Amino acid sequence: MRIDIITIFPEMFQGPFSESIVKRAIDKGLVEIHLHQLRDFTDDKHKKVDDYAFSGGAGMVMMIEPISKAIDFLKSQRNYDEVIYTSPDGDILEQSLANKMSLYDNIIILCGHYKGIDERIREHYITKEISIGNYVLSGGELAAAVISDSIIRLIPGVLGDETSALTDSFQNGLVSPPVYTRPREFKGWKVPDILLSGNDKLIEEWKHRESLKRTKSRRPNLYDE
Ligand code: ADE
Repeated sequence: MRIDIITIFPEMFQGPFSESIVKRAIDKGLVEIHLHQLRDFTDDKHKKVDDYAFSGGAGMVMMIEPISKAIDFLKSQRNYDEVIYTSPDGDILEQSLANKMSLYDNIIILCGHYKGIDERIREHYITKEISIGNYVLSGGELAAAVISDSIIRLIPGVLGDETSALTDSFQNGLVSPPVYTRPREFKGWKVPDILLSGNDKLIEEWKHRESLKRTKSRRPNLYDE
């Protein structure tokens, strides 16, 4: 898979993409991430990519020309399954959407800023708008990193058996059951006996029951579904 990210802050991705599972996926050649500085696509001598809104009011708007140039440039090289825009009013990122996107070959993620981007970009270029929650971030970079991470870990071969994505919360519509490791007892707090029983069938049943209990109390809407 190839992910092209258009941003005015490419350095913001150095942290999230240079550690852990995403780094391993890049090293294994299972994903390529290409960061594109939006300012490289403007002819303006000050590399300006925002301007005042026609409607007036506070806040700048990201201009149509540089974004259009950046996306046209990428699209001239290959086909994209989706051109994503990170926006607080987009579709909320859910596991089902991450699953779907993990099957794509090429995606573009455009990171929003200021008061947003010229609406004509959304109308004519963007195929999917994604929000990572109902709150406002300073820009789309953190959202793009979250979206990328949620997709990359699902690409076949990225996770080993021991961290398989199939047992993640939400993967079966339920949240995960509690987990424990050594020691068996700490400050008098014990690991549930059943987990030490060695009875795989009973352990699986216990995990399922705990999963249901947790889903009911923490995500009642998922439980009802
Ligand atoms: N940009 C600003 N806030 C955002 C959010 N919650 N999700 C995605 N992009 C954003």
